[in-house]
Amino acid sequence: MKEGDFKTNIAFGLKDIVVLKSSISRIDGESGKLEYQGYNIKDLVNYSTFEEVAFLLWHGYLPSKKELNNFSQDLAERRKIPLKIVEFLYTLPKITHPTVILRTAISYLACLDPKLKIIEEKEIFEKSKNLLAKIPTMVAFWQRIREGKSLIYPVPELNHTENFFYMFFGRKPRKIEAKALDKTLIVHAEHGLAASTFAARITASTLSDIYAAIVAAIGVLFGPLHGGASQAVMKSLMEIKMLKKREIQKWVDKKFEKKEKIMGFGHRVYKTFDPRIKILREIGKKLDKLKNNNWVFICDQLTKAVQKRKNLFPNIDLYSAPVYANLGIPDDMFINIFAIGRIVGWTAHIMEQYKNNKLIRPLHEYIGKTNKKYPKKRKR
Ligand code: COA
Repeated sequence: MKEGDFKTNIAFGLKDIVVLKSSISRIDGESGKLEYQGYNIKDLVNYSTFEEVAFLLWHGYLPSKKELNNFSQDLAERRKIPLKIVEFLYTLPKITHPTVILRTAISYLACLDPKLKIIEEKEIFEKSKNLLAKIPTMVAFWQRIREGKSLIYPVPELNHTENFFYMFFGRKPRKIEAKALDKTLIVHAEHGLAASTFAARITASTLSDIYAAIVAAIGVLFGPLHGGASQAVMKSLMEIKMLKKREIQKWVDKKFEKKEKIMGFGHRVYKTFDPRIKILREIGKKLDKLKNNNWVFICDQLTKAVQKRKNLFPNIDLYSAPVYANLGIPDDMFINIFAIGRIVGWTAHIMEQYKNNKLIRPLHEYIGKTNKKYPKKRKR
């Protein structure tokens, strides 16, 4: 079969197409179920920590107490980032979007890795642990730098999530804040072949390096149809907050009439409520109460109004916003918080891809002209 030489059924956007086998997570979009390595997301959120879930996604089993202690300690020792990267961050324009900063800093990490091209399992595992441990430091440092504040260095006595909060805000989190963020990272840790994960796997399938795969993934995550929606959601919620209850339907109707997408709604896989929403909604409600806000109520009202127009379900980005907003995370940082969680899933998929590699390279149907006569220069 020659490329461009045939007529076939095209799966635009690869909708409903299965392209590989994976044992990392299972999504049942019809009944709204999500499992990581066979465990229900609800159980993981209720009984595990983010560090435990990272171990699970990478190793395929839940760690013993000793394994978890060793893993946590190992991660804590890797949190510092090279001084060259810190100095470099100070040279970047403060108005740069934090997600662009993050992908740039990760590229710089690649410049400093003498074993860049080694993709053996053991080495990729080391690099994955480095990325998991260092990304929160990069994110927090950029926040401090752009605010003109002094850097707060990682401390080993705090866990992964508490330490990130501490470096970002300059104070230790309250128990409720630490739990909320940890659970939010768990629900963001993995989600099958999301566009960013697919980008990472495509990159790994060429046997390029893990940094290239993660930079590709972050670039894709940045798009407003993927993780970028989270920032846009906050803009909508701020607008809706100013409206009277009866005006919300009008706001929604106007969007539909103008054929504008409402951010935080719709999903390629879920055709019902995404199970992560119930989890985030509960966390958001607790934080709303703590901070005297009503973000979850606004999300609920918006959902009702959207569903009056179309059978569309809210997605993870809608109900992440109340959590982030209540924690005081600026809306242009939402995508980076997503990345702090999803780095686990991305790296798990990269490892799986390297282990059983097949170049990912689909075909297109050529619809242009063929066999054109090459024109002489004066006739062009
Ligand atoms: N607002 C309004 N209409 C929406 C919508 C939204 N958020 N999401 C989907 N639709 C509509 C589409 O316009 C389309 O309508 P049509 O059949 O009348 O043309 C229909 O629902 C199917 O949507 P489509 O974009 O083809 O589905 P998809 O599977 O290709 O896309 C998303 C999935 C996520 C890209 C899409 O729902 C979207 O753009 N959502 C907003 C961005 C977002 O929140 N992204 C985060 C995803 S986790």
